[in-house]
Amino acid sequence: MKRYLITGASRGIGRAIAEKLAAPDVALLLHGRDTIALAATCKSVKSGCARVIPLIHDLALSTGVSDLIAEVGDEPLDLFVNNAGIAVVKPFGEITSVEWEQTLGVNLTAPFQLIQHFAPQMPPGASIVNVLSIAAKTGFANWSAYCMSKFAMEGFSQSVREELRDRKIRVINIYPAATDTEIWNNVEGNWPRDKMISAAQVADAVAFSLAQPPEVLVANITLGNLGGDL
Ligand SMILES: NC(=O)c1ccc[n+]([C@@H]2O[C@H](COP(=O)([O-])OP(=O)(O)OC[C@H]3O[C@@H](n4cnc5c(N)ncnc54)[C@H](OP(=O)(O)O)[C@@H]3O)[C@@H](O)[C@H]2O)c1
Repeated sequence: MKRYLITGASRGIGRAIAEKLAAPDVALLLHGRDTIALAATCKSVKSGCARVIPLIHDLALSTGVSDLIAEVGDEPLDLFVNNAGIAVVKPFGEITSVEWEQTLGVNLTAPFQLIQHFAPQMPPGASIVNVLSIAAKTGFANWSAYCMSKFAMEGFSQSVREELRDRKIRVINIYPAATDTEIWNNVEGNWPRDKMISAAQVADAVAFSLAQPPEVLVANITLGNLGGDL
């Protein structure tokens, strides 16, 4: 049985990835913070996979990361999807140090610590998927903390990709443009949801990259609305 860990699987893109990757030979280890939302994801994938294990931890806290690592255990992962993320959207002058630290914690430090812990046990043929963003390559007004964290993950993951090549572990980076999820609920302004791609479309891109033969690396997928970015 294969073991897949997906962070931020309680809603949005992480939930869509869990639903897409559920299969009879897969145990899904699904992480989130919101117990009720995570239970809903688990319910929706349960019949399609061998086992589903909910993992509830706050990745802004170092104890949350270490508790998640402990709960996942020593058995190797065949796939680790680094998806949990937060967006603080405001002029850079208004970002508080707490917001900055939380953004760093969830979007960068937790992925670093989790990859550092899980990669050494991953077998040849395993994959790490990082859900980055077009904001990992382009700065956008009012998204400075978010862009900082995604640009940093871009550099970190590129280097890790090179370090893991010899062990036949693929590092796949996904760069969605605006995607219609709840992350936008707290972003000020009128954001046209109908011009956003769907979480299921991002999940399709993840599944496509994982479906390639083991010697083929789909290193980067950027996807967005043909009509242009918002
Ligand atoms: N939506 C977009 O337009 C878009 C575009 C490009 C990239 N992305 C990236 O895609 C990823 C998923 O985003 P989404 O759009 O699906 O957002 P979402 O619907 O808001 O989901 C975010 C997920 O991250 C988890 N999370 C947030 N803070 C956490 C914390 N402190 N500890 C543990 N888990 C935490 C949430 O868990 P709980 O809800 O259970 O707390 C939730 O499962 C993020 O990395 C985001 O940056 C999104």
